[in-house]
Amino acid sequence: MAKKAKTVFICTECGNEYTAWQGQCSYCGSWNTIVEHKVAPAEEATADTRRRTGVAGRPVRLGEVGTHDYTRMDSGLSELNRVLGGGIVPGSLTLISGEPGIGKSTLIAQAAGRIADKYGPVLYVSGEESEEQVKLRADRVLGSISDSLYIYPETNIENIMAACDSIKPCFIIIDSIQTMYSQSADSVAGSLTQIRECSGQLIRYAKNRNVPVFIVAHVTKSGELAGPKTIEHMVDTVLSFSGERDRDLRILRSFKNRFGTTDEIGAFRMTGEGMVEVPDISGSLIESQESEEGSVVSAVYEGSRPVFFEIQALVTRANVGFARRTAIGISQNRLNMILAVLEKKAGLSLLDHDVYVNVVGGMNTGSTSTDLAVALAIYSSFKGKSSSRRLVAAGEVGLTGNLRSIPNADKIVQEAVRLGYEAVILPERNARQTAQSGRKIDVADGGRSVSVTPSAPDVSDSIRVLGAANIADAIRAFAS
Ligand code: TYD
Ligand code: MG
Repeated sequence: MAKKAKTVFICTECGNEYTAWQGQCSYCGSWNTIVEHKVAPAEEATADTRRRTGVAGRPVRLGEVGTHDYTRMDSGLSELNRVLGGGIVPGSLTLISGEPGIGKSTLIAQAAGRIADKYGPVLYVSGEESEEQVKLRADRVLGSISDSLYIYPETNIENIMAACDSIKPCFIIIDSIQTMYSQSADSVAGSLTQIRECSGQLIRYAKNRNVPVFIVAHVTKSGELAGPKTIEHMVDTVLSFSGERDRDLRILRSFKNRFGTTDEIGAFRMTGEGMVEVPDISGSLIESQESEEGSVVSAVYEGSRPVFFEIQALVTRANVGFARRTAIGISQNRLNMILAVLEKKAGLSLLDHDVYVNVVGGMNTGSTSTDLAVALAIYSSFKGKSSSRRLVAAGEVGLTGNLRSIPNADKIVQEAVRLGYEAVILPERNARQTAQSGRKIDVADGGRSVSVTPSAPDVSDSIRVLGAANIADAIRAFAS
């Protein structure tokens, strides 16, 4: 006898399940995030269904597992390949999220065209746009349209699976998951039930046929994945595509990757002819060549290359009541910590001042290497002083006021030389390491500046590396 459908309650933030509704999720603590969710009755796992679903495997020795079919597909966009860890893995599921209008469809249409040219049939399922709209975009961004590129404006997942069975694509794109629905779940498209059911069907198809699938997902206004968050753990890779609407730079970042690191970022420019790759991202976020009051350039090492960007701070006298602290691009907690350290360890009293910090260009690295530049930008705005030279600052500020070293400092220095900077302020340990690699450095030691002679012959760089043990030394090096 057929079993009845049951109802569960799932938190949209963390995906935790409950048997009854409650106002607050007791697992992640979010309020009003628990929604009702109907689950179709599970089939009895008979020998017949096991054969059909193809799950009746047997344990094998790990050493005997072949990896011959693990060759990655080239997406035709090296920035996308880089973020994925070297290309698209067959049978993998990739979720690509971003605000509406950021360029997800454009980026994927470009990859689809190149993959169709190189590997064979590609199925682009569009639940949002008509054939003509997709064709218009493809005409703009692809020089010629491959015969192997199929467009299918459909939202019914069962029809899509049937189309896959007939076309046998080597790459599938679902744009977007929020528009898809399955007739086996009685709920509207975009609901949790539908998102989970449709993703489940896609995952089974991808794994059984070894075909990679890209799933586009929209984010909410606050930048959250909302519904699709519940499928984050089901997919192999989660990418996010971001940028500022009025600027053309777009950053692709991975938050989860079963086949590579999550450190790499990809950079593109949105142009009239689609996305253009930006292989040389390190200096493209910096606009001004002059050193300005309240602005300090910082650098982080993202995966395999350094990225330079500007941090701006504005410190003004607070009017009434509590002083405001606003942070864009760095976390509010980090800003509060840096302000406390500046107050206690560098004697900067900011209690009655509003502080605004902005990372220019929409970079949101989450890296603590930006701490030092944030601190120096605040100092610069507060004192109304700018540095007399073009400089870069990178380092983590500890609660004791000491500077903690950062990874790949030497590569950041090399890039700073290439971009024509005059000085780099680094944590002392990093500075000494760059001295060992043959670079002359100055170490600010209790106010005195000590030159350290490199152990290898001096490379003829015009840059000065300034090592600082703590925040007070860094300020002295900045103001000198
Ligand atoms: P789109 O890829 O449709 O965004 P998403 O799928 O993330 O919602 O692109 C949206 C915007 O990009 C659109 O407003 C127009 C602009 N655009 C360009 O600037 N150049 C182009 O070549 C294309 C195709 C779009
Ligand atoms: Mg789109």
